[in-house]
Amino acid sequence: MVGEVQISGAKNAALGILAAAVMADEDVIIRNLPDVSDVNIMLEAIAGTGAVVKRLDRHEVLLNGSTIRSHVVDNSYIRKMRAGYYMLGAFLGKYHSARVALPGGCPIGVRPIDQHRKGFEALGAVTSIENNMICVEASELKGAYVYFDSVSVGATINVMMASVFAEGRTVLENAAKEPHVVDVANFLNSMGAHIKGAGTDVIRIDGVKKLHGSDYTVIPDQIEAGTFMAAAAATRGDVLVRNVIPKHLESISGKLREIGCTVEVYDDAVRVLVNRELHSVRVKTLPYPGFPTDMQPQITVVLSTAKGTSTVNETIFENRFKYVDELMRMGTNITVEHGSIAVIDGVKGLKGAQLVATDLRAGAALVIAALAADGDSVIDDIEFILRGYEDFERKLRALGGDIVMGDDEKEAKKFFLKANAV
Ligand code: EPZ
Repeated sequence: MVGEVQISGAKNAALGILAAAVMADEDVIIRNLPDVSDVNIMLEAIAGTGAVVKRLDRHEVLLNGSTIRSHVVDNSYIRKMRAGYYMLGAFLGKYHSARVALPGGCPIGVRPIDQHRKGFEALGAVTSIENNMICVEASELKGAYVYFDSVSVGATINVMMASVFAEGRTVLENAAKEPHVVDVANFLNSMGAHIKGAGTDVIRIDGVKKLHGSDYTVIPDQIEAGTFMAAAAATRGDVLVRNVIPKHLESISGKLREIGCTVEVYDDAVRVLVNRELHSVRVKTLPYPGFPTDMQPQITVVLSTAKGTSTVNETIFENRFKYVDELMRMGTNITVEHGSIAVIDGVKGLKGAQLVATDLRAGAALVIAALAADGDSVIDDIEFILRGYEDFERKLRALGGDIVMGDDEKEAKKFFLKANAV
């Protein structure tokens, strides 16, 4: 891969921000939205509650929550998308009542919601699960002290939203510090919320009576950027990744340097190039600012052709190595111990294969592997990839990748890759 790529808005920030936007009864404009299926399904789900959802252009939308008539988000929207559960926090906060279908999302392990419920209950809500719906109800919401037993991005954002209108002060301890948590907090503050401390592990929210309109731009996507950085490394290329916040990429840049890549950092871009042999390292996924679990498959691909034996320890999700079976078809030498540690013996090169994307980030990682391989590859089930990467194949083609999406009806959901275009 050689050239420049422009990073889109952050999917996981956008999902929280869209839910939060309808907590105001005035016009809210959100810019730099990524055009990916998760975001588009979220917009449909929000429109389904009666809110105004008006596309201004491909990356901009106007929302207005004053016309909402239903606090129920049903299965048809949510089955394939986990972030629908952000409507719980938004509607509980605004209307004291919400019902949302149990979340779907990527099959990367059991994904409990106990911490979300714990936070809602601390604010005074009653929560229950009935007919596969999560139901939250409150007669009033009062500021509370919440200690999260595990660091959860979703629970932090959800309880933060629910507490925006709660009377008095809410303190969230052991909060997630991910850039998208900060972005949702900044957005809520832009509508008049009083949230302090987002980005640290203690967030304080002082309840307000109402929120007003806003015009807000979503931050760039940390994981999309990291994926292109990994693609540059795996293909021994030279890629300038533009429109990023380099601070958000520090754990990724640091690990790529340790492997032997050169990473140059500019104000809003990073350049990754490889001009020497890459070698093995240890990686452990951790909550931010640690190495992101959403970059675990991509770094495994980079390490699969780095000299020596690497280990990748997944500590966030218990079933996030399913894609390793697919990678093995390409000639990698990886064993997974106890489902959580991949031991990777670097091989000289990868060969093209017929592959199936098992989830969003794993799918992106297989694409990177196929770009780095000798021989042609076909990747099936790319719906997963389209959930989170805007114009993935177009951006890769601009970097020299020979990748096309099947475009007749039968082939529509596959990527076809030809080897060694770069
Ligand atoms: C968010 O998921 C992201 N999704 C995920 O990105 C990402 O992998 C994950 O955070 C970790 O960074 C969205 O933002 C929409 P968590 P989330 O709650 O919020 C446990 C991608 O590829 N936990 O931070 O669901 C949980 O089991 C997706 O874009 C509880 O125990 O993740 C896990 O071990 C995939 N109880 C850990 O916390 C709870 O109530 C972190 O999960 C909630 C979570």
